[in-house]
Amino acid sequence: MRVRNGWVRGALVLAAVVLCFSVAYSRVREPNGSYAERRAKLRAQVDAPVVIFGFTGREDASPSYIFGQEENFYYLTGHNEEGAALLLLPEKSDNGPKEILFLPPRNKPMERWNGPRIGFEDSDASAQTGFTNVEAFAKLKERLESLAKTYTTIYTLLPGRVENGYPHRTNWNNWLRTKLPGVNLKDISQPIAAMRQVKSASEMVILGRSIDLSADAHIEAMKMIRPGLYEYEVAARMVYVHMRGGAEREGYAPIVGTGFNSTLLHYNGVRAQIKDGDLVLMDVACEYSGYSADITRTVPANGKFTPRQKEIYEIVLAASDAAIAAIKPGVMSGGTTPGTLQKIAMDVINSRGKDKDGNPLGKYFIHGLGHPIGLNVHDPAVPGRALEPGMVITIEPGIYIPDENIGVRIEDDILVTETGAKNLSARVPRTVAEIEKLMAEAKKNRGKQKD
Ligand code: GLY
Ligand code: MN
Ligand code: MN
Repeated sequence: MRVRNGWVRGALVLAAVVLCFSVAYSRVREPNGSYAERRAKLRAQVDAPVVIFGFTGREDASPSYIFGQEENFYYLTGHNEEGAALLLLPEKSDNGPKEILFLPPRNKPMERWNGPRIGFEDSDASAQTGFTNVEAFAKLKERLESLAKTYTTIYTLLPGRVENGYPHRTNWNNWLRTKLPGVNLKDISQPIAAMRQVKSASEMVILGRSIDLSADAHIEAMKMIRPGLYEYEVAARMVYVHMRGGAEREGYAPIVGTGFNSTLLHYNGVRAQIKDGDLVLMDVACEYSGYSADITRTVPANGKFTPRQKEIYEIVLAASDAAIAAIKPGVMSGGTTPGTLQKIAMDVINSRGKDKDGNPLGKYFIHGLGHPIGLNVHDPAVPGRALEPGMVITIEPGIYIPDENIGVRIEDDILVTETGAKNLSARVPRTVAEIEKLMAEAKKNRGKQKD
């Protein structure tokens, strides 16, 4: 129900989502009610206050940046501006506001640089953000100190064992520990991750747009690829298609690897010239209004797979097809036990083809089969949770044989439905015949255009 109806509802809410493309928020948002529903759901699960800090804008070393909000904060607020915080109280708490959005004041000189922001003192701050209670960020400390008289625990986002990138969580945890010395800080990331795993209809509209733009970019790349081009020319074309379609940035740095570089999983050189006989692997996708797609295709530089390239390609494709065919609610994605998608794909790869020494090819499939996508290209997942309708995951088997300069990965974005799966990136050519046909047509057209 949730998903098949979800797609129908997705179309119906499209207008509502588009209407949320307001001046203050420079990208498409879900309606305020979607974020409010999530907050209510989280508040119903906790027995203590939750405080979550948004990014400040200082995460990026560059003075001018494309602001991408802390994802959990964004998921619960839809607020994509700097220096905010969210306070939620349990559903069963005493009288008083159950949700407060804390915002910094307007900074007019700064707005001459970065554009207008919503300030706590704006008369329409509530209408814009969907929060009845919007307060000055400077009040947060006072609010928390008062809550600490009642609660011995506060939930927040605790840093993981290693905090990659900007130490956002570490910094705010230090701040909380200093301000609330007697309070026990507990992690709230798992309940939010559990919610993030199942996409709503309005999220699907946005994620669908991200996938569509990324699919368009792959098709354009396939049409242009030929020996003599440089990897960065292909990447540039793909980024152009994304941005022309309204994406704010890439979901991750484009991976375009030719020849040996196709065997490097997260190759980021993107400098080499494409040679006749190479395979070109493109793992490229955009972020649209916060949501990232994740698509990979591998094509022959000259438009025609060699027999060996075709053999390897078709093994990867068979692994992908087998895994996608096995998707349905209740199935486990990762793991090595029978019935998991990972094992199904690995069994296909191990049972077909050999390397030069006659060994099975499983040892060249050196990564996980997939992961959730959403506000992050590697969206969080609750460990050990089986697939459910509304989840969107990648299926991305690969075989990488450095000795043969062959790296093949095929990555699609898959919606789990009530009964199975829907491949949201299927329109990007996947079979050998589809890829060769598209590239042959493009070559013919290039000949006519004399480029
Ligand atoms: N694009 C990164 C990945 O496929 O996981
Ligand atoms: Mn991926
Ligand atoms: Mn990828």
